[in-house]
Amino acid sequence: MCGIAGYIGHRQAYPIVVNGLKRLEYRGYDSAGIVLYNDQKLNVSKTKGKVSDLEEISNKDNNHIGNIGFGHTRWATHGVPNDVNSHPHLSQSGELAIVHNGIIENYDTIKKELITRGYTFKSDTDTEVLINLIEEVKKENNCKLGKAVQLALTQVIGAYAIAVFDVNKPDEVIVARLGSPIAIGIGKDNKEFFVASDASPFIEYTKEAIYLEDQELAIIKLDRDIRVRKVKDDSIVSSPEVLELEMSLEQIEKGGYDHFMLKEIYEQPDAIVDTYRGRLLANEGIIKMAGVDDNMERFLNANRIIIVACGTSWHAGLVAEYMFEDFARIPVEVEYASEFRYRNPVINEKDIVIAISQSGETADTLAAIKLAKSKGAFVFGVCNVVGSSIARETDAGAYTHAGPEIGVASTKAFTTQITVLSLIALKLGKANGALSNASYHSYLQEMELIPNKVQELLVINDQIENIAREYKDAPNCLYLGRGFNFPVALEGALKLKEISYIHAEGYPAAEMKHGPIALIDEQMPVVVIATKKGHYEKVVSNIQEIKSRKGKIIAIVTQGDDTVKHIADHVIEVPDSEEAFSPLLTTIPMQLLSYHIALMRGCNVDQPRNLAKSVTVE
Ligand code: F6R
Repeated sequence: MCGIAGYIGHRQAYPIVVNGLKRLEYRGYDSAGIVLYNDQKLNVSKTKGKVSDLEEISNKDNNHIGNIGFGHTRWATHGVPNDVNSHPHLSQSGELAIVHNGIIENYDTIKKELITRGYTFKSDTDTEVLINLIEEVKKENNCKLGKAVQLALTQVIGAYAIAVFDVNKPDEVIVARLGSPIAIGIGKDNKEFFVASDASPFIEYTKEAIYLEDQELAIIKLDRDIRVRKVKDDSIVSSPEVLELEMSLEQIEKGGYDHFMLKEIYEQPDAIVDTYRGRLLANEGIIKMAGVDDNMERFLNANRIIIVACGTSWHAGLVAEYMFEDFARIPVEVEYASEFRYRNPVINEKDIVIAISQSGETADTLAAIKLAKSKGAFVFGVCNVVGSSIARETDAGAYTHAGPEIGVASTKAFTTQITVLSLIALKLGKANGALSNASYHSYLQEMELIPNKVQELLVINDQIENIAREYKDAPNCLYLGRGFNFPVALEGALKLKEISYIHAEGYPAAEMKHGPIALIDEQMPVVVIATKKGHYEKVVSNIQEIKSRKGKIIAIVTQGDDTVKHIADHVIEVPDSEEAFSPLLTTIPMQLLSYHIALMRGCNVDQPRNLAKSVTVE
């Protein structure tokens, strides 16, 4: 989704803003722009394309100078990606500039009203409507910019994170949010401020930031201070929380890898350890999780658990369904957040909702949480991004501690979500007696071994590269798994389609004969997960069925498997483990397979077309 990176201070803004935009590229975008204040003028350069294209345009425009600048990467919603629709947008007078993430839903009504007042529009965007509304309100009320933004925002329906600047007040920037995240980095002695969609653009300059809450507006005054007010009634927020950022520059750089995705695949052994560090005390037989411990009664008395999430996080939720039911005998439903929020679900205060989200900003998941809370359910969040909207909106939660995930395709987020969820399931199974003591302890011991097994497994990278070479031109691909590994099949298919643009489908292996088997011929690669402890014989029968129809079989099996290698075209071995934890292993070859195929097809692995890292619009 769109990204904002801005600077107001005493240095040159251009390099800070452009580097900031590059850090936000992972969010997904189709055009980029910058506005710089120089010589009492607002100078805008913008273009369809990448930040590198913007640099070329800025060179042509000779637009590099200014101590105040705002940049934007746009992911088109209203209006096609083109130069004119790119941000920043100026108001009709040319005095106000805006960058905006989100959607103004009632923009058309406002636009019609503004047209009757003499406004004309260059772009098709809702954002240009918003900046002209602010200009009109400012004129009409003869007020300062902060007040005009506040009054204008009370008229809009939708979501926004905005930064607004007035050429006549060059020491001030107005920032506001509803539904889309925005962070303000605070430089030393208030001599400079940074504004961005997340902290990555300014992490090398400051570790202190304010994350605006929904319906808050900040007036940033250079060399003075930041004042935060409520959009609704203009009341003052007396002490906005200043967060100490934990993110480091190293974490958001590629560190010698060609792509963030590959780096993040290789980070998984450490990420899993970071996720259970301080929580899993295997030798003592303890799992410590404050968010669960403090609410144990609720968990134990819950009628059921409803998991809401989107995409890969939804797949992690499906794995969790199997674990919660198996370990703790608690009924679980897993819902797409986007469906749940609109289908009038039956839900009450005896239900626990677990919301899973890497970014903590997914609009549908956030809306599902709000709905569940309004019906009295207790909502528990599993997020990666500390301080994100979902982390703040939920009643309690557990972070995954995977570190920043920059590649658009989720990898370490998935395995760390499963890690957190398995700890919760084990904890509940122990607390309610559904899990025997012996099993509980053996699972704890096994969990500690998983990071080493993932590490050991990563040596298959070369083997996977060879397999990828063979199938890189396949138009379709089928993924099959059963039990705990059915969601992994779905996740494998999602990884392949999103980064290589090959059509792929994930299916429960036994379900194949109810339809997808018709697709199988000698052209069709089928990735099958056939681990020793997971309905093995049944899956082997499914493999035979594929073989009989000449499908190409890439089987993921347990180390030492002697049966499947005689049937499959390729066998990828993963270390033996408890079946419940096998998704943490079987998913690794799938991630690598997608990565290599995408690379061989010349795709942009880290920023696949049309996709956004955090989906802040519904
Ligand atoms: C797939 C992927 C997406 C996200 C989905 C939810 O690789 O990254 O499917 O999983 O957009 O995002 P979060 O987890 O941030 O809510």
